[in-house]
Amino acid sequence: MRGLFITGADTGVGKTHVGTALATALLAQGVRVRARKPVESGCTRVNGELRPHDALAYATVTGEPLEAVCRVRLMAALSPERAARLEGVGYRLTDLVAHCHAGVGAEDFLLVEGAGGFLSPIARDGLNADLALALRLPVLLVAADRLGAIHQVLASAEAIERRELRLTGVVLSEVLPQNEPLLDNATDLKRWVKVRVLRLPHGAEGPVAARLLLPLLTG
Ligand SMILES: Nc1ncnc2c1ncn2[C@@H]1O[C@H](COP(=O)(O)OP(=O)(O)OP(=O)(O)O)[C@@H](O)[C@H]1O
Ligand SMILES: [Mg+2]
Repeated sequence: MRGLFITGADTGVGKTHVGTALATALLAQGVRVRARKPVESGCTRVNGELRPHDALAYATVTGEPLEAVCRVRLMAALSPERAARLEGVGYRLTDLVAHCHAGVGAEDFLLVEGAGGFLSPIARDGLNADLALALRLPVLLVAADRLGAIHQVLASAEAIERRELRLTGVVLSEVLPQNEPLLDNATDLKRWVKVRVLRLPHGAEGPVAARLLLPLLTG
């Protein structure tokens, strides 16, 4: 199965921003994309329903029903494991694996966004790392392009490689406009990681972001 597990060096680093742009790029190439955000915490309650913002963003791009994208919706803006415990919601890693595979054909491209960072718990019996391993997908690492990113990327990359998962690339997303013109994480990181390092400038989205991220899909 073709696909990517999109993980982060932290939470709020641009995983969904990058993931939806990649989905846009794939769709433009005529590829059928199945996007999965198997667990989402921090959902807002609207008309008695929990609304998962990331899953909604993916569903909007791929045209899939929200239920196909997101299996577990949680309200507390906490790690899914803690939010699920507090909200009395039970699920296991195997449920998430099954959800990620459901409805995905052999020719489809499966994009899975985890929750938080690579070593963040995603279920009571597993970390994001365990989900990536169970899915056996190559991993795309996203980090916020700011001071400190080099450590975050290298530490996450080490954890990915230690599990013998394939790191396919690193995206540095400029979540907030950088006001330090001398900062150049992308150039500095290239000295330490063998994979492709791409930078997504602040404000790049939709087809513009899709174009910038295209090299990740062409190998
Ligand atoms: N390159 C960028 N330009 C402008 N805004 C960005 C960029 N990258 C990320 N953002 C914004 O930063 C915020 C966090 O990004 P995003 O939601 O993609 O992070 P995430 O890693 O998916 O977070 P979570 O851990 O909650 O899933 C969002 O408001 C997003 O629109
Ligand atoms: Mg997200």
